[in-house]
Amino acid sequence: MSFQVALNFEDGITRFVECRPDETVAEASYRARINIPLDCRDGACGTCKSLCESGTYDGGDYIDEALTDEEAEQGYCLPCQVSPHSDLVLRIPSSSAAAKTGPAVFAATLADIRRHSASTVEFTLDVDNRERLDFLPGQYVNVVVPGTDQARSYSFSSGPAQRQVSFLVRIVENGAMSAYLTERARVGDRLEFTGPMGSFYLRALTRPALLLAGGTGLAPLLSMLERMAQQPPEHSVHLLYGVTTDQDLVHLDTLEDYADVIPGLTFDHCVADPMSNARNKGFVTGFMNAGTLHDGDADVYLCGPPAMVEAVRAHIASLGVAPVNFHHEKFAPAAVRTTVEAA
Ligand code: FES
Repeated sequence: MSFQVALNFEDGITRFVECRPDETVAEASYRARINIPLDCRDGACGTCKSLCESGTYDGGDYIDEALTDEEAEQGYCLPCQVSPHSDLVLRIPSSSAAAKTGPAVFAATLADIRRHSASTVEFTLDVDNRERLDFLPGQYVNVVVPGTDQARSYSFSSGPAQRQVSFLVRIVENGAMSAYLTERARVGDRLEFTGPMGSFYLRALTRPALLLAGGTGLAPLLSMLERMAQQPPEHSVHLLYGVTTDQDLVHLDTLEDYADVIPGLTFDHCVADPMSNARNKGFVTGFMNAGTLHDGDADVYLCGPPAMVEAVRAHIASLGVAPVNFHHEKFAPAAVRTTVEAA
């Protein structure tokens, strides 16, 4: 028996190691040839101190100089001492390069292309060695556009446990991936991607959550919902999905399906276009108040274009009810995300 430990490095790269309950995370990492920061390996120096964002563990033996009670209460731990009781997600205080690792490279076959509308395409891949690909719901990969030397960042819209992986793409004029998907792509094409990456991923839900999606920013939230369908949350979850025009609305039926199987999940959508047929017209901020934020006792997950992220941030500030956690990811068309948004 072993547990899966996600090691999230400062540069956004995530590597996964298998760790038995009778060994430490440091031992498992070294077995996987990942050199997480270590010095004493004895719970004395604090060099390996990392934040555990999800999971339970035996913290082992250490002295107060290495880890104070207050730090332990905040979720910090010492991987040289920690043995897992469940899957873990750890923030490692170094770059992946410093740990002598980096993003993994995967080859895949294009299995499906679904044109939702003129503005949005979804593509699905069969990944070679799928069992080697682990990711946290909400993370992204950099996909090389076939026939070019360019890469684009896309968040998984599928869940980590699903065999095929899928991605939502907003079609943009002169976009490399847009041109490929709308003009040249054929089922059976070979693609390559690197990852997974990013600090925008679902943490353990210990309070109500508000999920906010802008356009194809819905993708990582779909991945999170898929995880919630497998591991039902104990708190309410509300998803607000905003788009520019009616044609940008996708996966409403999928959201309905999730609302049927995830206890406490509700969702709504809005369209900015005043000519829209949608019941709610306007931006997501128009549908957020102190109540949707549970007077601040909420975790917010937001993925959308930069202007939306800033608008939501300003709106929350104006409400005066700062959420306990505000996880966000900005995306822009034709972008390769090389930096990671802090939570
Ligand atoms: Fe010194 Fe972990 S390496 S406390």
